Amino acid sequence: MTEKQLRDLMGGMTLEEKVGQLVQCGAGQFIQNSMEITGPEGEMLPAEELNRVMGSVLTFEDASQAKALQDKHLAADRNKIPLLLMLDVIHGLRTTYPIPLAMGCSFDDDLMTECADMARRESAACGVHVTFNPMVDTARDPRWGRILETNSEEPLVNARMGAALVRATQGNDLSDPENVACCVKHFAGYGAPEAGRDYNTVDMSERQLRETYLPAYKACLDAGARLIMPSFNALNGIPSVANKWLMNRVLRDEWGFRGVVISDFNAVGELVAHGMAENLKEAARLAMEAGCDIDMMQNAYYLHLKDLIAEGAVSEEMLDAAVLRVLRLKNELGLFENPYHGADEEKEKAVYLCPAHREIARRAAEESAVLLKNEGILPLSRTLKKIALIGPFARERHLVGFWSRPGAWKDAVTIPEGIGAILPDCELVMEDGCGAEIGDADGSGIERAVAAAREAEAVILALGEPEGDSGEGRSRAELTLPGLQTELARRVIAANPRTAVVLFNGRPLVLTELEKVAPAILEMWYPGTEAGSACARLLFGLANPCGKLSAGMPRSVGQCPLPYNRMNTGRPKPGPDGVPVPFSSCYLDMGNLPLYSFGHGLSYTTFEYEDLKLSGDTMQAGGSLQAVVTVKNTGEKAGKEVVQLYMRDPVASVVRPVQQLIDYRKISLAPGETAQVAFTVTEAQLRFWNFDCECVSEPGMFELSTGYADHLKLTRSFRLI
Ligand code: BGC
Repeated sequence: MTEKQLRDLMGGMTLEEKVGQLVQCGAGQFIQNSMEITGPEGEMLPAEELNRVMGSVLTFEDASQAKALQDKHLAADRNKIPLLLMLDVIHGLRTTYPIPLAMGCSFDDDLMTECADMARRESAACGVHVTFNPMVDTARDPRWGRILETNSEEPLVNARMGAALVRATQGNDLSDPENVACCVKHFAGYGAPEAGRDYNTVDMSERQLRETYLPAYKACLDAGARLIMPSFNALNGIPSVANKWLMNRVLRDEWGFRGVVISDFNAVGELVAHGMAENLKEAARLAMEAGCDIDMMQNAYYLHLKDLIAEGAVSEEMLDAAVLRVLRLKNELGLFENPYHGADEEKEKAVYLCPAHREIARRAAEESAVLLKNEGILPLSRTLKKIALIGPFARERHLVGFWSRPGAWKDAVTIPEGIGAILPDCELVMEDGCGAEIGDADGSGIERAVAAAREAEAVILALGEPEGDSGEGRSRAELTLPGLQTELARRVIAANPRTAVVLFNGRPLVLTELEKVAPAILEMWYPGTEAGSACARLLFGLANPCGKLSAGMPRSVGQCPLPYNRMNTGRPKPGPDGVPVPFSSCYLDMGNLPLYSFGHGLSYTTFEYEDLKLSGDTMQAGGSLQAVVTVKNTGEKAGKEVVQLYMRDPVASVVRPVQQLIDYRKISLAPGETAQVAFTVTEAQLRFWNFDCECVSEPGMFELSTGYADHLKLTRSFRLI
């Protein structure tokens, strides 16, 4: 349709029909559906009444449901305006790839593209028009359960991976039934709730917001994302869905965003609970004024917009502008011509869990795993005849993590299945040892586990957090392994020191006690459908770990939040021997460093860095220089290395971070092979938000380093003139 046709269509709509375009309901209200609806459920109006006018639905299961929903609606809607069908496809639809935090550990934008491409094919076949992805809330506090949905504590990684996901999902032409539109979320600062408690308030300077939190959303919009979702939290006192400064000033005016804003689940209604609105009617007005186009899972717009317009509290122009944005999106997706878009039962069968997709998911799981520690235990020999596989995750199939489809876990490969595919003749003795639930104090299985460990040639100890313990509304005040798992580890490792620990969890955990006893720790996160295959291939050396932590692992929950790119203080240093002393900005009992820093990750080979060279010792404003480092594989196995480039601005008009990742590149090296890795550093990368909230660079010295956070090496300086 042309813009004129869209406007004519809108011109013929009643007020109620226009408002309907801004209403989103759960698909489960119209069809039999087993999908879990998240968040506090709104009291929605009778389905038949809504079905006639509503503009979009969320959360449906498959292509046949997508078609049924569309048919039912089109039969009732006199204007024949197709529904938008939306779904949270966060890390794969039917073939699940690792959780986003794990994907961040791959530091591989191309891999992200491949995974997003796979999810797009499956989503399109399922009939999805819009995915509520990417989630790019920079998060630095692992108490927050949704840290698993973000790629990293580092905004650069979130920006690059989020943008890669948007490009792969949307393609060049949204009317192509193979493509799906993206909704970036949760705008803004949702990843910084006070004390890591979900939905909690976020209070921060505009400078900090712009420096650390806004860039990733902006990068996804620049990559073309058509929708954005304001966050649940209050930002500097005002919930995002009603935050005019954020949505009108920054998003629409400054960034020029022309797409659709959709509230989070019942977030308009929650303005009442926040104490921003006296009732739903006021909530509707506030959200409209802040430019929220679609009201997800509430009746606020449906019940009250008509009256608000009649009373002159909301202008009809404002309503029309929102409706037009929704109609334009439908038009761009080609829904007026093809309301099913890509929904196709045959294609679903062909692409879901197909070998090519499983292969991508396996590779992603391998590249996301982080080898935290290895004292010569890994890789395990493939000639082992008897292995004890111990721990609550030893036989577990729930390895896909939050935001996977109901039942997706059933498709996951377990560890014994993965090992069986590699070593069919190896005897596996399996014992749970204990549970992984929070507060589980049943240690009755530990003795059996210890006995099994004693009799085996080697032990694989699979520990972690139950799948449901990290995700939305899953904040934790403690970050240790739940239940008796650390005790189990102590006992098992004492019985057989040839033990490799593998971890399945959705957030950085406090592993301080485990680290003291475990000779090897492989962090698998929630790896998705191919969990067990990837885990086994890594354990037995068919794959070489190359992941690097996308968020640091604290020594204690008391250190949180613990960003690697922290600011210096006036008293940053511990005593001369590194031991914390009073009157320094340091915890007396453990210092300030995490147990495992951002960017850390081992390999079965070793890499040496030498000779960081800069193409010059000065840079002009608006200019650039080259930083080239030589990396050599000094071990005996082929391996991949994430080469990380850090910057420090030692003197500036505001305090700057002690280290800041400004670029990264993953390379593959054969044993003995050397590569020169060149980064172009531009003046734009040296910019920051100054006290007056302007994004500037300032002349002076800068340092560039390789290595990883808190372990920088080969530092070189240059001057910006
Ligand atoms: C979450 C969003 C999600 C939405 C729809 C909310 O509870 O915060 O991330 O997209 O539900 O399922």
